[in-house]
Amino acid sequence: MNIILGIESSCDETAAAIYHQEKGIIAHALFSQIALHKEFGGVIPEIASRSHLEKINSIVQEVLDRAKITLTDITTVAVTSKPGLPGSLLVGVSFAKALALARNIPIIGVNHLEGHVFSACIENQVPFPHLCITASGGHTSMYLVHGFGDYTLVGETLDDAAGEAFDKISKLLNLGYPGGPIIEKLASEVAFEDFFHYTRGNSKTTDFSFSGLKTAVLYDLVARGAYDMKVKKFLKEDDLYFKQQVASSLLVAITEIFKNKISLALKLHPEIKAVTFVGGVACNKYIKRELTQLAQKLNVAFFTPSPTYCTDNGAMIAFVGNYMAAKGQFSDLTLDILK
Ligand code: KG4
Ligand code: ZN
Repeated sequence: MNIILGIESSCDETAAAIYHQEKGIIAHALFSQIALHKEFGGVIPEIASRSHLEKINSIVQEVLDRAKITLTDITTVAVTSKPGLPGSLLVGVSFAKALALARNIPIIGVNHLEGHVFSACIENQVPFPHLCITASGGHTSMYLVHGFGDYTLVGETLDDAAGEAFDKISKLLNLGYPGGPIIEKLASEVAFEDFFHYTRGNSKTTDFSFSGLKTAVLYDLVARGAYDMKVKKFLKEDDLYFKQQVASSLLVAITEIFKNKISLALKLHPEIKAVTFVGGVACNKYIKRELTQLAQKLNVAFFTPSPTYCTDNGAMIAFVGNYMAAKGQFSDLTLDILK
């Protein structure tokens, strides 16, 4: 009986989960560092790796307790080995190696992005082939997914990630970090209306680009007398309605970009049976609602993971670890975070 411990520490979440071969995910635990990075408006790598080091023991213990098992029950340890912040990745990988050595169990290095790609499959039977859009603070890509562990890139961002666009514009407006949930809340207060019609970029390619949108928003703020470029200061701090208008227009623009890319990918790949939308941005209820409607119109199924499995988590790493173990795709103690 395989019982896989999955460990994730690539960015600002220390997370662990247990995948039981027959029962699926039986426990997960997570410590989010958001509060530690908030005052800086983004993740500070050195603070992140120190915090992982402080938390990893207790998070792994917590997940074992929740699953009502002990370390001796674990048959394989799966760990995010790339991509991510090197210092942060090292904490998880070193912990997993020590565990593998001490318990004499196999270790599997999991690609963080592959974890996200299959996160929608943890709770759903998603048919293959499907189209997966991963959208988070660090990555925005589209994959054609043929089977477990078998996927090809259809398009990716040429510059910023979608979550990064939310975070950067939130920072411009002095709203806080992470920007996505704050922007969503403000936009909901004005019924997701498109006030300022920001650019949607090039709709003829399956690649994404969000830096043009960010610049367009910045210039629009300047043109409306809301931002001073010289001193880098937002000037409408007290104008809640204006902030709601910007937030709503931004959310609608980003949603429409996703709709355009999905429509284009489905045209290019008519064999696609379903669309999955994963990563931190997939927590957004407005985007989810709009993409559900689009999928219905285009006659494909649509899935997003529960919010806990959208943001970084150990469950997706344990889940991928499980099918890699079944295929015999093990790493060894030379597992590296840079290769
Ligand atoms: O997957 P994730 O936790 O971490 C990365 O691997 O980057 O994603 C975090 C990103 C942040 O940029 C955050 O602003 C965005 O996901 N996000 C959202 C929402 N919740 C989180 N974006 C839009 N709407 C949300 N509700
Ligand atoms: Zn991620």
